[in-house]
Amino acid sequence: MSDPAAGPAAATAAPDKPESVPGSTKSDPILVVDGIRRSFGGLVAVDVDHLEVERNKITALIGPNGAGKTTFFNLITGFDAPNAGTWSFNGEDMAQLPAHRVAQNGMVRTFQLTKALSRLTVMENMKLGAQRQRGENFFRSLNHRGWRAQEHEIEARADSLLARFKMDHMREEFAGSLSGGQRKLLEMARALMAEPALIMLDEPMAGVNPALTQSLLGHVKELRDEGRTVMFVEHDMDVVRDISDWVIVMAEGRIIAEGTHEEIGANRDVIDAYLGRDHDSALTIDEENPFAADEADSATAGSSGNDSEDTENESESES
Ligand SMILES: Nc1ncnc2c1ncn2[C@@H]1O[C@H](COP(=O)(O)OP(=O)(O)OP(=O)(O)O)[C@@H](O)[C@H]1O
Ligand SMILES: [Mg+2]
Repeated sequence: MSDPAAGPAAATAAPDKPESVPGSTKSDPILVVDGIRRSFGGLVAVDVDHLEVERNKITALIGPNGAGKTTFFNLITGFDAPNAGTWSFNGEDMAQLPAHRVAQNGMVRTFQLTKALSRLTVMENMKLGAQRQRGENFFRSLNHRGWRAQEHEIEARADSLLARFKMDHMREEFAGSLSGGQRKLLEMARALMAEPALIMLDEPMAGVNPALTQSLLGHVKELRDEGRTVMFVEHDMDVVRDISDWVIVMAEGRIIAEGTHEEIGANRDVIDAYLGRDHDSALTIDEENPFAADEADSATAGSSGNDSEDTENESESES
């Protein structure tokens, strides 16, 4: 914090650079989480004391398979309820709000396994991402002219996003006919229909071919450039290094480290979390990417398979 009484360490720290410790305060946090905890039977999946996410930055959330990253996203965005904890987004209390209300407030997420609805067209999927501003009022939505105007506005917004993501030629195709990478793009474009201030992407690059990965990375940077905040889960450290301003590391439900990707790559606790405490070499994440195996796993199987809704949609796409 910028408390002048905080002592010499605070006075000499770079003004914009948060402390590289778990739960460090940020100068302008868009999301502040306190004491959030979620257990499944005896397993504590998420147990985060304090976490702040800086506004208008790209923050990576990394950690071994089963660390609790997806569960954390589920909790924060209202897709799951914690056993305890509070969190605020843009200063507003978000605990207890259902997912659609969270999205209306400007916090939107995508899923590890894509949720594009295969039997709907690309355009129909996009429209589902729009938050009904006016239609929210049932009686007003009965006013046909108002409803039509809003439909047009939503379609125009969808068209411009599809053009931006170079998917406009697929407008009328069924989402089920898209490649895995195209579905990831569609999901990101659909999330943007809600005009989020914070977009949370759960493994946006998993299963995406290298050419499309580059374009996805470009899109993520653009989101920051246009003033949004991005938090994303990723196993590929090359991707993390390329686009993250800040990295948060989770293991066994807790935040174990925070810092720049250089700091994280050299952090002993992080290496231990990935490799186990018994390894003897002075491995660095840069030299020998210990996350590569995770990446391959998650690309094929969605690793932990915890998201029942995801699984449903996945099977829908295959039927
Ligand atoms: N609905 C659930 N029921 C029971 N256990 C669950 C459920 N959801 C998650 N878990 C468990 O909670 C832990 C955290 O899972 P989570 O999917 O959040 O991890 P993750 O960090 O996203 O992993 P990955 O990198 O593999 O996606 C795992 O042990 C998982 O098996
Ligand atoms: Mg996950």
